[in-house]
Formats: sequence, C-alpha cells, structure tokens
Amino acid sequence: MKILKIYTDHSKVYHEMQQVIFNYEKDFQLYHRYLSKLKCKKILEIGSGSGNLAKYFIDSKYDYTGLDNSKEMIKLAKEFVPEGKFILGDMRNIKLEEKFEAVVVTGRTFTHMTTNHDVMFALYSIHEILQKEGWLLFDNFNTEEIFTNFREQSTHKAKYEGRNYTRKSTTSLDLEHGWTWKWAAEYEIEENNEKSSFKDEMILRAFTGEELTLFLRMNGFKTKEINKEANAILTIAQKINDEKTNAQKLYFKQKLKHLS
Ligand SMILES: C[S@@+](CC[C@H](N)C(=O)[O-])C[C@H]1O[C@@H](n2cnc3c(N)ncnc32)[C@H](O)[C@@H]1O
Repeated sequence: MKILKIYTDHSKVYHEMQQVIFNYEKDFQLYHRYLSKLKCKKILEIGSGSGNLAKYFIDSKYDYTGLDNSKEMIKLAKEFVPEGKFILGDMRNIKLEEKFEAVVVTGRTFTHMTTNHDVMFALYSIHEILQKEGWLLFDNFNTEEIFTNFREQSTHKAKYEGRNYTRKSTTSLDLEHGWTWKWAAEYEIEENNEKSSFKDEMILRAFTGEELTLFLRMNGFKTKEINKEANAILTIAQKINDEKTNAQKLYFKQKLKHLS
C-alpha cells in the first residue's frame, strides 16, 4: 500500500497545517458525546496521526492507545503527547493482545481502505480487538456529498509559528474501486523568505451509509447510528457476536486459498 509523503517525510507539515485548518476540539466533542453515552473509557484510536486528537482524549481521562502505520507519525505523536501510548501498526492486521471497549477510526482514516479487501480485513481485525459488545465509531467521507458536489480544485492556507503553508489540491474521478477519486496535492512551504515544495497523490474512497452497514453486518457488527454532517459520515456500530460470521468464513477461506 502506498503511503503519502504527508504522513511520512513531511509529517510535520501535516501536524502543523491540520491544527490550523481542522477543528479538533469540535471533532473530539462529537466522539466524546457518543463515548460518554456508551460508557466507554478504554479506547483505541486508529489513524492517531501526530496525536492532535489524542491530546483531548488524554486530557479527558480516557484510557487511550493510538495506532498508526506511519513511524514518522508515531514519533511526532510521542513528542507532542508524551503521556500518550502510541503503537505502530496497520488496521488491516492489528497485532494486540489487549481488548478495548471502543475503537475510534478518526480523521477520515478509513478513506484509505480503497478496496473491498482492505475494508474486510480492517473490520475483521477491529472486531477481534474489541471486547464483547464493544463499539466502533468511524468517520468517512460521505459519498452523496462528495460525488454530487465534486470539487476539482481547492486551496488551503495555514500559518504556523512563522511558516506559511499552501496546499493546492486537484481531484478527478476514479471510480475503479467503489466511490473512489484521485487526489493530487502540491504543497508549498515558505519560511524566512525561502520556499520549498513537494507533491503527493493518492486514491481515496467515500462510502454510503448502506455500504458501511452491509460491510459491518458481514463482519459481526450492527449499525446503531449514522450521523451525516457536510461531507462527513460518522457511523456508530456494536460488535454483536464473538464468532466469525458466514461471510467472514467464506471470504477469508477463499483469500487464504488464493494466497497459498
Ligand atoms: C487523515 S490522517 C488522520 C490523522 C489524525 N486522526 C488526525 O485527524 O489528525 C490518516 C492517518 O491514518 C494513518 N493510516 C493510513 N492508513 C493506515 C492503516 N492502514 N493503518 C493504520 N493507520 C493508517 C496515516 O499514517 C495517518 O496518520
């Protein structure tokens, strides 16, 4: 799987830009509302990035673990939130003995599950590390909004401690792996009158509520609520059985045969 430069070589740019252009406090309050209602304190955040949300969870006394598949992001998160616990790992194959009351996949991280194979493996893996009747909260891009108001160009600017960041994004329809699009970004960094730049590109995916509900059901979850706001769709689902579902038995048997 290709990893974006913004999550690796340029993770500091991600960390600084996002703090300016994204409202983490508002995002945290949304998760906090649901997690409080569900009485979940022991949580795993998947796609914890540089720890921008971790800070809020820890300040609010959650028993918090963050997981991310970029070692650069994990390093930044440990520096930014030294009291946090951060683990390097891929959500499609989580290797943890510990079980959690809730898993939160934040910041549209699930958008990187661009094939049905990725989605099946991720949900299987998340199901495994949840306690009995545990909860999954994950946000995604909302297909209806993204694909009916498709924006081909956008520009974001952010100023952080004397550094001026500009990101110019160009998007085009892909539709090869579901509701997918190609995103290409050009970053410019200006500091002390010196300029540098880099480019990044990737395929991203949006989901409809019905697609998510079906994938969840195939992997032993029941969808309890779908909350749509602008281009985001937050799904709240509960693990309903410990055994493998028929869909999982069939799918993973086929996959293993294919791999052997
Ligand atoms: C859009 S960022 C979100 C980061 C953070 N939640 C935030 O809102 O700032 C997506 C994060 O997911 C991580 N990621 C991407 N694919 C992943 C995977 N398969 N398993 C675990 N983490 C992944 C990236 O390294 C990146 O840090």
